[in-house]
Amino acid sequence: MSADATSEGAKRGAFSSRKVFIFAAIGSAVGLGNIWRFPYVAYENGGGAFLIPYLVALFCAGLPFLYLDYALGHRFRGSAPLSFARLSRPAEAVGWWQVGVCFMIATYYAAVIAWALRYTFFSVNEAWGDDPETFFMKDFLQTGDVTVDLTLVTGVLIPMAIVWLAVIVVMVVGVEKGIGLTSVVAIPVLVVAFLALVIRSLFLPGAIDGLEAFFTPDWSTLTHGGVWAAAFGQIFFSLSIGFGIMITYASYVDRDTDMTGSGTVVGLANSSFELLAGIGVFAALGFMAQSQGVEVGEVVEGGVGLAFITFPTIISEATGGALIGVLFFASLVVAGITSLVSVLEVVVSAIRDKFDLSRGAAAAVVSIPAALLSLAFFSTASGLYVLDILDYFINQFGILLVALVSMVVVAWSLRALPELADHMNRRGSIKLRLWWRLLVGGLVPIALAYLVFDSFRTVVETPYGGYPTWMIAIFGWGAAAVVMVAGYVLAPTPWRPGTSLDGPDETADEAPVDHTEGVAR
Ligand code: ALA
Repeated sequence: MSADATSEGAKRGAFSSRKVFIFAAIGSAVGLGNIWRFPYVAYENGGGAFLIPYLVALFCAGLPFLYLDYALGHRFRGSAPLSFARLSRPAEAVGWWQVGVCFMIATYYAAVIAWALRYTFFSVNEAWGDDPETFFMKDFLQTGDVTVDLTLVTGVLIPMAIVWLAVIVVMVVGVEKGIGLTSVVAIPVLVVAFLALVIRSLFLPGAIDGLEAFFTPDWSTLTHGGVWAAAFGQIFFSLSIGFGIMITYASYVDRDTDMTGSGTVVGLANSSFELLAGIGVFAALGFMAQSQGVEVGEVVEGGVGLAFITFPTIISEATGGALIGVLFFASLVVAGITSLVSVLEVVVSAIRDKFDLSRGAAAAVVSIPAALLSLAFFSTASGLYVLDILDYFINQFGILLVALVSMVVVAWSLRALPELADHMNRRGSIKLRLWWRLLVGGLVPIALAYLVFDSFRTVVETPYGGYPTWMIAIFGWGAAAVVMVAGYVLAPTPWRPGTSLDGPDETADEAPVDHTEGVAR
């Protein structure tokens, strides 16, 4: 490793052990996507039969792409833009695009965590009364007509400010003591709370009907392209791959770490949690269907509706509902925070690599504007609408598109897969051979291209969510375009003095990494 790159490594911060890294990576992967997105996506796309495309997506796209992200960060020891720049100077813009995607995600992800924080307390006395839907839409969010209304909603503003404050502290404290320690504490708490929730749900009357609905396979769905697309989309968001997070985290890991083995642990842990969430959520939905005398299919809702309308209904109807509520919403908060810090770290790490800033300054320069923008848009009366549009467009034309482009650049244009495989194979317990290059360079980009094209066709044919065209133009296409061009603005700026754009020497010994991450550089 060159002297330059070594001293940079010492200053950037690092995880003190493989264990801390794995906890942080699981903390990032397990998030809102696992708890409220997976159960609904699985049910909508064939129930038990969805497990086939899901497992295919996990093993053929998710894990191979996770290894690719790890290879980039671990080989080039930089944030997403620095790793891409070290791979090839013109590729830097792809890294900045990922940074832009993360910045956008952070602004709305914090809002959902804040809602969950508030609902943890609402659960105690079932504050929503007998109409959870009106309570959520009108009393809590104060949602009005479908337009942009920037009237601040104090009940959302305060929990959002608390979430941002907590996250800013973690970001300022740094990689090991902030992100690492938070994850090491939060993940066991999350697992215990969520297991308690699932066990309680399984004992509710009607739980078995819910599980039957969830697991009964509808094999006919396997011939639908959209079902496979849903599985691939779910895996990318859920595993935090393709948008810079795993590149950034891998750059903080000691050189002699087994990255493929670690990635496999992370991927399997994430999917296990996802399945557990499916079981817990559907057991609870089975109960709700039984107590209302309807079919399970009639009470299934996705995303926001599932967490903030359906779950409160279940909480009101179940004996000991308050406990279910506190466990469910607190789990969302904990899972969400460890994912949000990983999303923000992509931005902080990139800014710190690029400009001559200390950790604290970089964390402040990124987190404070993100927090202000987030509060300005999502603690307002139209927060829910903007969030819904942004989430869809950033997922489809941010995460998936940049993942596709990065694969085309790395595999096809730069033909870097053999070099990256060599790097991973030095210490990896799972060897990346021809199968990996075929998946990452062939099957996955083709699947992603189909996915992005399919979403594009769908939104062109039918405006997303029935929102006015101007709202979709600004918060959908506009946001997706802004993050894309961000790369071209930032890439020409020179790197912090002393930054070497040569990839670290693979054969030289690794100098010891300073885990204390100096406050002032
Ligand atoms: N991977 C994170 C989630 O599932 C972003 O929410």
